[in-house]
Amino acid sequence: MIESTFLLSLFPIIFLLPVYAQVTVYGITGQQFIGQTATNTAAAANYTGSAAYDPTVLTAPGIPIGDQYPSLQFDIQLQNGGTNGLSLTQQGSFLGFSVEMSVVNQVLGRNSTYLQVPFLNLMANVVQRGGAVNVRVGGNTQDLAVLVDSLPDGKIIQKDTSASTNPTDTPPLQFTNDLIIMMRNISDLTNVRWYLGIPFNDTNWRLAIAEQGQQILGDYLLGLQAANEPDLYADHGHRNLSYSPSDYLSEMQSLVSAMSSDSNIRNQSVLIAPNIATGDWTPENVWDTGFVDVLDTSLAYLAVEHYPTDNCFAQFGIGTPHDAQTIFPTFLNHTSGQSFVQPYLNSTAYAQTKGKRFLMMETNTASCGGFAGLSDSFGAALWTLDTAMQMAYSNFSGALLHVGGQNVYYNPFTPPPTNQSTFHQWTIGPVFYSTLAMAETIGPSNNSRILDLGANNGNIYTPAYAVYENNDPVRVALYNYITDSSGGSDYTASISVSGGQMPSQVRVKYLVAPSVSEKHNITWAGQTFGAQFASDGRLTGFEDIQTITCISSCSITVPAPGFALVFLTDNALSESGATGATTTFPTTAYTKSINTVTVDASVLATSNGNRGGGNMGSTSKGSAANGGIKVGVEYGCSAGVVVGMALALVICLLEEW
Ligand SMILES: *[C@@H]1O[C@H](CO)[C@@H](O)[C@H](O)[C@H]1NC(C)=O
Ligand SMILES: *[C@@H]1O[C@H](CO)[C@@H](O)[C@H](O)[C@H]1NC(C)=O
Ligand SMILES: *[C@@H]1O[C@H](CO)[C@@H](O)[C@H](O)[C@H]1NC(C)=O
Ligand SMILES: *[C@@H]1O[C@H](CO)[C@@H](O)[C@H](O)[C@H]1NC(C)=O
Ligand SMILES: *[C@@H]1O[C@H](CO)[C@@H](O)[C@H](O)[C@H]1NC(C)=O
Ligand SMILES: *[C@@H]1O[C@H](CO)[C@@H](O)[C@H](O)[C@H]1NC(C)=O
Repeated sequence: MIESTFLLSLFPIIFLLPVYAQVTVYGITGQQFIGQTATNTAAAANYTGSAAYDPTVLTAPGIPIGDQYPSLQFDIQLQNGGTNGLSLTQQGSFLGFSVEMSVVNQVLGRNSTYLQVPFLNLMANVVQRGGAVNVRVGGNTQDLAVLVDSLPDGKIIQKDTSASTNPTDTPPLQFTNDLIIMMRNISDLTNVRWYLGIPFNDTNWRLAIAEQGQQILGDYLLGLQAANEPDLYADHGHRNLSYSPSDYLSEMQSLVSAMSSDSNIRNQSVLIAPNIATGDWTPENVWDTGFVDVLDTSLAYLAVEHYPTDNCFAQFGIGTPHDAQTIFPTFLNHTSGQSFVQPYLNSTAYAQTKGKRFLMMETNTASCGGFAGLSDSFGAALWTLDTAMQMAYSNFSGALLHVGGQNVYYNPFTPPPTNQSTFHQWTIGPVFYSTLAMAETIGPSNNSRILDLGANNGNIYTPAYAVYENNDPVRVALYNYITDSSGGSDYTASISVSGGQMPSQVRVKYLVAPSVSEKHNITWAGQTFGAQFASDGRLTGFEDIQTITCISSCSITVPAPGFALVFLTDNALSESGATGATTTFPTTAYTKSINTVTVDASVLATSNGNRGGGNMGSTSKGSAANGGIKVGVEYGCSAGVVVGMALALVICLLEEW
């Protein structure tokens, strides 16, 4: 939100800086970040490279003292049936991604026949656990995007700097429909569902993205945002200073009218609004115009966008300074996520009275790129996992983590800089692990309901949630925000279930790291994506699922710091991407000889595993015929998807690209 607030004043500065060909124009174009905080290593102090690889490591907060220190032994008493206060039903795709439109050619693929293998693998990893993944292509750049017939050199997007007439000098983004075809090709390989946005810079309405989006993506298009942070349009000079929620409603009515007279838009009930940053307007300011009743059948979802804080001062010298080391502890407790959702509780209740679902279309740890050492820490992973669960408990129906370019700290995943793509692989951020754990916590039934347990007398360092299916608890999520390498702050929760058979044993997966400050040494059930530039999007290492025998209760130890996901039934484990699910999808991947990193000839983390639906083998027939879809700028490899007996082989050939 604040990111956008400062755009007007920032752009003149930004455009004096060298602008890379392919970096995001989202507020911080071409900006090289310098570690601002806790420069506890010489490397960090002297670092002048891209934010995404900043080595800054913060100091973990001290162990809480006195009343704040949690009890290290506590009970969690659950019951089958009759539990009050559960959320609406939630989907395993709850926590997805928001990809800034201007970086799609780096993150998703170069075009419809040249997909990024690591992106496919990362998405497949989430799909395997949650059943689907939702990805938004949009952001500030969506409002200026223009669909064109073709671009030079077969490009799918281009920033048209010559045509930048808008007050912020944001170059309009041109794109071809091959971008949307690329998205469709991705969905045909793994169950990615998409959000797009209708440009709002021209109320003569450019509806091509709605027409093409529906035609090409079909059911994989979940909805179209109508305006991106309209409460900041006046500040940014996109509208006059008196622009109000009722003016926005009038524009929405004009949009709806234009759409209804466009016979190429088959589904009219697709709009997502108001997408306010909760900056200059509250959601209630919008609801009180009669917004939802007036637009009723056109609205697929109600939505907002929000970041808990911003790093605008360090990056641009504007706004309130925040020091990463000082604010780090404020992220590392349960209150943080509760405060994050608080402004929206009335709206999630209101949405239910109107029969609408409510989304968080864009968030992350902090706007203006996040904070070095904070946004890319294990602490951020715990915060994201708690805040996402808090949103689910509070009746949001989904949330999207924002993905920028090389110049932000908070990315869940970052492709290597374009000129390093032949020898570097992707960098997976700590918050990506949150999306895996979240997908498994909710699971793929689309029938999970969430309860914040207020565990351990509500101690803010040891929150816990239970996940219910058909009114019975199936999984329990346990957090420990404290960093204490002595082991002295590990806690043990004793879980019991009444009103039915007590489980004789439960299975447990851990998300762990040595410290909340840790950036790379992070494992989910023993597996990792490794260090910077090290990942092809597949987890490495053996999956480690612990078995705990229960007597009168099940005693689960949670390390400090750490997260434990407890599966109360065998089915709860197997549905959430059980081990072995991927073994029917072997991959033989050879890297180009120039590569210093080799890719294991092992398992491609594909979608669906044993579970069917979106099966790679059965949905990529088109590509089976003639070598098909080419994937993998990273390895300089192409891939043919070969179909046979539910076996999909992705074969990367030695080929110079
Ligand atoms: C996609 O990009 C590759 C590599 O740049 C190129 O060879 C191929 O022709 C492009 N495909 C389309 C459909 O433009
Ligand atoms: C991907 O897109 C191309 C168009 O460039 C199309 O020919 C091809 O069939 C698509 N592949 C899949 C798997 O849908
Ligand atoms: C909740 O939102 C509705 C709709 O805007 C509004 O009428 C009501 O006053 C709000 N309640 C609170 C407590 O803010
Ligand atoms: C979520 O919605 C359910 C169903 O309406 C309701 O019972 C519950 O209290 C709501 N939870 C919160 C935190 O508002
Ligand atoms: C990649 O490009 C950047 C920016 O132009 C340059 O500073 C860097 O040295 C290049 N790296 C390589 C390995 O060519
Ligand atoms: C859950 O929802 C996703 C997305 O709509 C869908 O692909 C999947 O088939 C659903 N799963 C079940 C079990 O209904």
